[in-house]
Amino acid sequence: MVFTDPGFGLDCELGVATAATQIEGGRADTIWHRWAATGAARDGTGPDVACDHWNRIEEDADLMAALGIRHYRLGLEWARIVPEPGRFDAEALGHYRRELRLLRERGIKPLVTLHHFNDPGWLSEQGGFLSPDALAHFAAYTERVVTELGDLADEWITINEPNIFAYHGHLTGTWPPGRHSYRDLLAVETHLAHAHLQAYRLIHRLQPAARVGVAMHLRVFDPLHPSNPLDRAAASSSEYLFQGALMRAMCRGRFLAPFKQPKGVRPGRYYDFLGINYYSRTVVSGPNQQTASRVPVNDLGWEIHPAGLVDLARRYSGLYPGPIYITENGTADARDAFRSRFLHDHLKAIAGSGLPIERYYHWTFTDNWEWAEGQTARFGLVDLDFASQRRTVRPSGEFFADIIAHGGVTPDAHARWVAPQRYRTNA
Ligand code: FCB
Repeated sequence: MVFTDPGFGLDCELGVATAATQIEGGRADTIWHRWAATGAARDGTGPDVACDHWNRIEEDADLMAALGIRHYRLGLEWARIVPEPGRFDAEALGHYRRELRLLRERGIKPLVTLHHFNDPGWLSEQGGFLSPDALAHFAAYTERVVTELGDLADEWITINEPNIFAYHGHLTGTWPPGRHSYRDLLAVETHLAHAHLQAYRLIHRLQPAARVGVAMHLRVFDPLHPSNPLDRAAASSSEYLFQGALMRAMCRGRFLAPFKQPKGVRPGRYYDFLGINYYSRTVVSGPNQQTASRVPVNDLGWEIHPAGLVDLARRYSGLYPGPIYITENGTADARDAFRSRFLHDHLKAIAGSGLPIERYYHWTFTDNWEWAEGQTARFGLVDLDFASQRRTVRPSGEFFADIIAHGGVTPDAHARWVAPQRYRTNA
């Protein structure tokens, strides 16, 4: 297909991403089920409703296939597979086997996340990842999952966004376990990174040809006043502390300050793809971090900054070369008023980048239970009515299907879905 301006072709494969706790529904005992039961989410909802995906794996696989989706990043619920320490639940593993089979029968390749913010409740009673005991539990879980599901999946994300999980749980306290301690933040990040390094080696022992990586939340940190050297220094140290040092630990097994090298960890290469979750940009001035003013924003006030995706991918793949997977990118847009433009702008940046970006997973498939935001933030290509569980493909979902069908954005698609949309800006 020849794409004339304003269309463009794409080399990377498109898919969608989800997380078990956000979609499955039901009574798994995770830190989120416990936390939400106290009424802590913005709207008081919990993950027990979500998308009822546990009972709708076939319907959802059919809908994905109907949109032409060939790649799906999905998470497993650790607390379902290991409902108490040392006990593995054959039924839960059987369920995931069935789901992976349904996907493969429809030509959809799975990329499986082992940990997506979802510590089991029993683990939290032992301190979660604050405790080094979490390492042995995570290794046992990983070993069982890869042994049981390895004939149906060969691409794995060990840990999703260790920085966000540790930061909100242990520094801002807005997520479970609701703590405010920089020391604990560093301990949790160290153990999450160490858990990844162990799992990386373990998975390769069980499945030598597997592709294994992390999905790291990378943000752009820009100085508020680029000509001010203090702002520049503050931006680069914020970036280092939020993501740079942790990336080094996870990709290379090197724990630089403020971390300490854990005993027995040897530097090496611990990734087969560079997994990037990208959403937004922060501007920094001295100790203050904020969203820039008079910029495009989504429903949650997050700045929409498409160029940042490629800037980060370029910078980090310079440090950690290899295939790049954009493991998440998407936006909260309940009215679907700018999602198609958002999608277009980020894909266009990728298309012109010359970087080895092999996959782009849009966050997310249907609206879901968005952690502390509950049911209020809508990131889906597909609208979800939580009460009736009806799924309705949004225009942006149709656009996504059209991009997949054509291998890029055609001028017609641009005219239909992108040209009419505008971003809204903040004050
Ligand atoms: C990421 C999370 C994902 C979802 C999106 C909006 O930080 O990995 O579960 O919450 O943000």
